[in-house]
Amino acid sequence: MYDLTVIIPTFKEESNIGTIVESVDAVFLQNGINGEILIVDDNSPDRTIERVRDLQKSKPHLSLVVRTEDPGLSQSVVEGFHRAQSDIFLVMDADLSHPPALIPVMLTEIRDGSDIVIGSRYMKGGGIKKWPLKRRIISMGATFLGRLLFPEIHDPVSGFFAVKKDVVVSAPLKPKGYKILLEVLGKGMWREAKEIPFEFVDRATGSSKLKGQTIVEYAEQVIDNARFSWNHHESAVWQEWVKLFRFGIVGLSGIVVNEGVLIYLKGYAHVILPVASLIAIELSILSNFVLNDTWTFKTEQQHALPHWWQRLLSFQIVSLGGAGINFVILNALAVYFGVDYRIANILGILVAFAWNFWVNRRVTWKHV
Ligand code: GDD
Ligand code: MN
Repeated sequence: MYDLTVIIPTFKEESNIGTIVESVDAVFLQNGINGEILIVDDNSPDRTIERVRDLQKSKPHLSLVVRTEDPGLSQSVVEGFHRAQSDIFLVMDADLSHPPALIPVMLTEIRDGSDIVIGSRYMKGGGIKKWPLKRRIISMGATFLGRLLFPEIHDPVSGFFAVKKDVVVSAPLKPKGYKILLEVLGKGMWREAKEIPFEFVDRATGSSKLKGQTIVEYAEQVIDNARFSWNHHESAVWQEWVKLFRFGIVGLSGIVVNEGVLIYLKGYAHVILPVASLIAIELSILSNFVLNDTWTFKTEQQHALPHWWQRLLSFQIVSLGGAGINFVILNALAVYFGVDYRIANILGILVAFAWNFWVNRRVTWKHV
């Protein structure tokens, strides 16, 4: 039994296969990792398979699967999951876009308790080298769509990730197209995901197999994963939606608090309007905070902001930002674009709500 299996899907990689196998092997050796390298090839018409067979002569831990049906990157990776001879899988490209030096780091994270470790291009310290503008735009669009499902994950479509066998072996994965990680996140049984930044370097030789059809397949995949979570309430996506829903309920309760306090202060206690209004707004922010902290985000065990007063401060600032957004949108639409002020206000409220949830999720109640 190996410590981990590095799964490398290949199609026409004769110019890269030798280098990637040797580099992964060197990392195994330097770090005392008893690893397996598993090449899953879609019956490449070039010399890829021959090269692997050659390398196998001196490397007993190098395995090869040659597929002849249902070709595809995701399909190959899933086949790799079933053929691997270890309990930890690490998926990476053959074209040296993903640095093998990160393998031991990712392995350590898995051993320390993460279910999934993602090599992430879209977080601080990560990046992409040598990509034309068109690819960057497509990738950003795909990432945005993916993050609708997983707001906490910076790079849900990375091709570089490690995962525990338990997360994927019995998951009902529907592998199709390029984005196997999205499928793993959407349907795998996981709780802890960790991201590690890395710099993606575009292939030096050979060519990318990304096609226009890939984009359509990807959109279908996002919808399919959304539907899946609707039917599987334990899934990570569903849990996120529950939080969004609760956050909305709390927001509505804040309106009631705000209005109630205002009526009481102005109507009964005869406090002057600006003062009454400020108190009403502040009390609704406070009650929203208490409800979100004890209800909406109660399942988060460990917060990045450990003290309640840190979260309160953060929530307070974000709420003021939300109020500012509401104000600007209402006035800009009504004054400059002639939009009916009631509709302009609803739009302002919706954008402010999105802002409040997004930022609070990522800062105030960030999970560690
Ligand atoms: N078995 C198999 N079958 N392997 C394939 C196939 C296929 O149909 N198509 C591509 N591969 C292999 C390539 O040989 C390479 O090892 C890896 O999958 C990535 O393919 P590239 O063609 O180099 O993809 P890319 O660089 O355009 O896309 C990269 O970025 C995406 C995120 O933007 C990859 O890292 C993807 O995995 C990643 O999702
Ligand atoms: Mn590539």
